[in-house]
Amino acid sequence: MVNEIPLETVKQHNKPTDLWVVIENKVYDVTKFRSEHPGGEESLDEVAGRDGTKEFMEVGHSQEAREIMKKFYIGDLAAKDCKGKLPLREITLCLISFAIGAAAIFFIKKTLARN
Ligand code: HEM
Repeated sequence: MVNEIPLETVKQHNKPTDLWVVIENKVYDVTKFRSEHPGGEESLDEVAGRDGTKEFMEVGHSQEAREIMKKFYIGDLAAKDCKGKLPLREITLCLISFAIGAAAIFFIKKTLARN
């Protein structure tokens, strides 16, 4: 079973010597990785004990970085603390379908008006 960690617990690990970070609702203990992080120790200190997803994404980490992360994964953020993700794909599909539908109605109406 996956280890579910509440945000309250993550918050307690906010020091350079005890550093946890949440990325995409997963918890990582990067205490040992801190001194090896190619992006510097400070960038990890900045997100210590909290959700660093935004900062992590902004950098555009490589696939290699993703592989390294796996070694420091300690559990999932408790469901109650997870940030809901906007279903962007579904919203886009819905908007496209709506646009196609509206265009179809427009052309059918135009064709009918002509006859
Ligand atoms: C477990 C978590 C993390 C791992 C394993 C990791 C790993 C890496 C690796 C391997 C690189 C080298 C470039 C690349 O391969 O993408 C890198 C660069 C960097 N990382 Fe991270 N990183 C982590 C978390 C973070 C977080 C939370 C932040 C921001 C708060 C951050 C900020 C940066 C920055 C600023 C760079 C330098 C980018 C550059 O020089 O262009 N990293 N990281």
